[in-house]
Amino acid sequence: MVHAVRINNGTANYCNAFVKTNRLEQQKLFGRPTWSKLADYKGMAGVGIVLLEGVKMQMGLVDISAGVGHANTSVAYHAGRLLALHEGDMPYQLHISPEGRVSTLKRLNLGRRWNAPTDNFTAHPKLDSKTGDLHFLSTFIMTPQLKLGTLDSCGNLSYDFQVDMPQNSLVHDMAITQSSKIIFNFPMRFDLAVMVTQNSLPLVFKDEQASHIGLAPHTATSQDQIQWFSLPSFMSFHCVNAWEEGPRGHIVRMYLIAMKRMDMSASNLSDDYNMHMHEVTLDRMKGTANMRKVTSIIGDNPVIHPLLQGQRTKHAWTTIFRPGDVMGVSVGIAKYELTSRAMAANQDACVAQIFYPPGHLGGEANFVPRNVNNPSMACDGEDDGFLMCYVHHAEANTSYLMVFDAKTMSDTPVAKVKLPQRVPYGFHGLFLNQEQLMNMKVV
Ligand SMILES: [Fe+2]
Repeated sequence: MVHAVRINNGTANYCNAFVKTNRLEQQKLFGRPTWSKLADYKGMAGVGIVLLEGVKMQMGLVDISAGVGHANTSVAYHAGRLLALHEGDMPYQLHISPEGRVSTLKRLNLGRRWNAPTDNFTAHPKLDSKTGDLHFLSTFIMTPQLKLGTLDSCGNLSYDFQVDMPQNSLVHDMAITQSSKIIFNFPMRFDLAVMVTQNSLPLVFKDEQASHIGLAPHTATSQDQIQWFSLPSFMSFHCVNAWEEGPRGHIVRMYLIAMKRMDMSASNLSDDYNMHMHEVTLDRMKGTANMRKVTSIIGDNPVIHPLLQGQRTKHAWTTIFRPGDVMGVSVGIAKYELTSRAMAANQDACVAQIFYPPGHLGGEANFVPRNVNNPSMACDGEDDGFLMCYVHHAEANTSYLMVFDAKTMSDTPVAKVKLPQRVPYGFHGLFLNQEQLMNMKVV
């Protein structure tokens, strides 16, 4: 479900709508959920569900040929298309009417070179604002496949390349620099056997195996052009940003949110599973990789200025988690300074925090530049803008859209919109300006 708040001339209105996915439309016919989810594939009961899914497909009760995704992970805007994303499927194209009403247009078709269901679409594509290109990838947890793609500024598929991967891996995000896509292979493996041997989900983290980071030039056409780096095992779901430094850009600086290990069956955080922002330095000439934690803050859902993907950035923001809390539920927002001066002095990269009022919890906070309708206008620094997030007050069962000043990081919100119903914490969001709304494609 997409939740949207439209702000116009001092007023706000709220709309929600289910994305009309193939999954939803088929389940509507039965009047109840009939498709299983990854969380159902646990232990012997999960084995039974896997077998049952096969029977349902054989009997024609489930048709996965038109997609299996929830379209519930993230939203992106590119070339006039508003896309609802889930990494197990192709995007669903949405439309927002002038009144703020959300509707589903279609499941995106990129032509013969990007064939669903084999090829999917990451929930975290990366926009290069200098070229207008949208860089993305397709992964599938059950097999060692990873495919890279680029949509040009008109939204047409301009590049695709299949990467040879030695093993399957759970990969949720990617990064870009001006010249390369950054891809990952973490030792989080799909393994059906552990459903029986460990009574768990079919995903296991192999501590003894390395994590790999690949630099794939945007125009790579052979496996040899991808430079791979290795680091001791870690897991990451989200990248903050990456860019090139030094003569001929031979140093790649990347920030990501990482944890020491991952257990998909765990619902609560413990020390090794705590997520912290890390800095990764790749030296292309030496072929070396180094990684270090840059903050004691536990957090995820990193955001930066939306036009600075792949370029050097000074600021980033994440959610703040408390140790032991349910994963993904945030008590506030942390601001980071990613300058070499601070990093060289080994200072904590977190420079300010906003905490929601007592009893309030939130999801991802989106950074919105102040001159959002004219982003080329000079702003008072990269952090001149707002942080927007849905916050829920459990005791009163009331949700708000809260807006904070991203520069001052004052706990007092700039604006607070009481919503007519609860909005779930969700995964990722997006802010659209008036120009993007006006230019949104209707087909
Ligand atoms: Fe994500």
